[in-house]
Amino acid sequence: MKNKILYLSLSVIAVSLIGNYILRYFSSFHFRERKCAMHRPIGFDITFSHRKECLESLSDDLNNTTKEWNVNTVEEIEMRGYNVSTHTILSKDGYYSTMYRIAGGVRSPPRHGKRSILVFHGYSAAAKYWIIQPGNRNLAFTLADAGYEVWLANGRGTTPSKNHTHLDADKDFDYWDFSMDHVSTLDLPLMIDLILQETGTDQIYYACHSGGCAVLLAGLVDVPELNSKVKAAFFLAPGGFLGGGYSPIFIPPILERHWEYILLKVTGGKLSGEPCALLTSLGITTDKICGWSFMRCGICDNFIFAIFGADPEQMDYSNLPNIIKKFRDNGSMKLLRYAKQLHETCEFQRFDFGERRNLLEYGSTNPPTYNLSRMAVPTYIFYGEGDNFLTPSDMVRLRDAVPGKYMKGFHKVDWYKFNHIDFVTAKDADILVYHKIRDIMHKIE
Ligand SMILES: *[C@@H]1O[C@H](CO)[C@@H](O)[C@H](O)[C@H]1NC(C)=O
Ligand SMILES: *[C@@H]1O[C@H](CO)[C@@H](O)[C@H](O)[C@H]1NC(C)=O
Ligand SMILES: *[C@@H]1O[C@H](CO)[C@@H](O)[C@H](O)[C@H]1NC(C)=O
Ligand SMILES: *[C@@H]1O[C@H](CO)[C@@H](O)[C@H](O)[C@H]1NC(C)=O
Ligand SMILES: *[C@@H]1O[C@H](CO)[C@@H](O)[C@H](O)[C@H]1NC(C)=O
Ligand SMILES: *[C@@H]1O[C@H](CO)[C@@H](O)[C@H](O)[C@H]1NC(C)=O
Repeated sequence: MKNKILYLSLSVIAVSLIGNYILRYFSSFHFRERKCAMHRPIGFDITFSHRKECLESLSDDLNNTTKEWNVNTVEEIEMRGYNVSTHTILSKDGYYSTMYRIAGGVRSPPRHGKRSILVFHGYSAAAKYWIIQPGNRNLAFTLADAGYEVWLANGRGTTPSKNHTHLDADKDFDYWDFSMDHVSTLDLPLMIDLILQETGTDQIYYACHSGGCAVLLAGLVDVPELNSKVKAAFFLAPGGFLGGGYSPIFIPPILERHWEYILLKVTGGKLSGEPCALLTSLGITTDKICGWSFMRCGICDNFIFAIFGADPEQMDYSNLPNIIKKFRDNGSMKLLRYAKQLHETCEFQRFDFGERRNLLEYGSTNPPTYNLSRMAVPTYIFYGEGDNFLTPSDMVRLRDAVPGKYMKGFHKVDWYKFNHIDFVTAKDADILVYHKIRDIMHKIE
């Protein structure tokens, strides 16, 4: 058995290393059509440097495998001592989206008149990842403890928001036929209005990670009245410009527009939230798998490093099974295709339907760009030097597109390996990012 495991691990490593070289070679001509240079060459970062720390983390929870990993998000928020309720909006195209409202907790009990902050997750994730960290180390509880009402959005298509007036997310291909502009122009304005109405306030704060930031940026351009409803926005590794991205996620040519038909036919339009759907169907869940030592320390950790870049110092190994379980949710394939489009064009532009339909939708053969000079919300950007999705080059492009008088803060996180997922999962995300947001909010008030 031990030998088998050893051989399995060694072959995974060998395949990753060989794959790395092939992909580097392949990517050099595959990307020749690109409009801007990637921040760094694409590569799979795997590392075993923190194996000892990882193995130690196992003994902590060998006797405590269930932890709080298997309860749903609302129950977990309650178990952890916060007052939570669920609110739903219905968009005019029939999609229900759910928000969790954390009105307060022990450190700051619910009361009328608290300022609210809407927190929007990244693409292919859901609200559950904002409470992935233990204790009150995560963004949601940090802000709730600081006296704010925290509203966690679940974008359409995520598990809590998969209801629809007449389409079935599990069966109907049409359900998944939406892109980011549906979320930013149809769902987001209703979410914000619901918060203002429920709390009787006139402005909210907004915080987001990755794709959740692109949702706001597009919304501010396309729905001008949103600008006066947002007091300030905190963008953590914001999506929009992503031409510099060098994550291996950007490689598959199947995500290009001319493959779209096949891609959507094969997947039914849905990007599954389970990293290993096959194993899940056999009853083997990812959190169980990553509870085994040889999987957690070598495969699960490197699965994350390979996609997001290696930052073992900030990896909370004892929380790894929980991270693997909750950092993803179901998303739409069309949005993944959209990300690939933004990656290639290096512009923050609308969805590319192909020339003929673009002409119908937009009146031009090319999808128009989002003109960010129309946004009018005080903007604070946080970015990581080790982020292989939204790289420092992309952050500079975004900073320069936001009108100067609204560009209030451009913060490089103070740890050189800080990667894309670290904004949610890093051991020190609270010290490096969340407390800074909280302090800026206090200053604004
Ligand atoms: C697990 O629990 C058993 C029995 O309570 C105890 O003997 C053992 O030391 C514990 N192991 C760890 C790693 O805490
Ligand atoms: C098990 O995990 C929970 C949640 O992390 C913790 O509160 C509890 O103290 C742990 N129990 C043991 C016996 O370690
Ligand atoms: C949550 O807060 C609301 C409003 O203050 C209150 O009505 C409700 O009872 C609270 N729920 C819990 C579980 O504390
Ligand atoms: C979904 O929405 C319908 C109304 O369109 C409602 O009757 C049903 O209860 C909802 N289902 C869930 C699981 O919320
Ligand atoms: C994704 O969708 C499937 C099918 O509806 C569902 O069973 C699953 O719980 C969803 N969520 C995740 C995280 O995969
Ligand atoms: C963007 O919008 C501003 C203000 O509305 C306008 O002056 C500018 O010409 C627009 N830029 C483009 C490229 O459309």
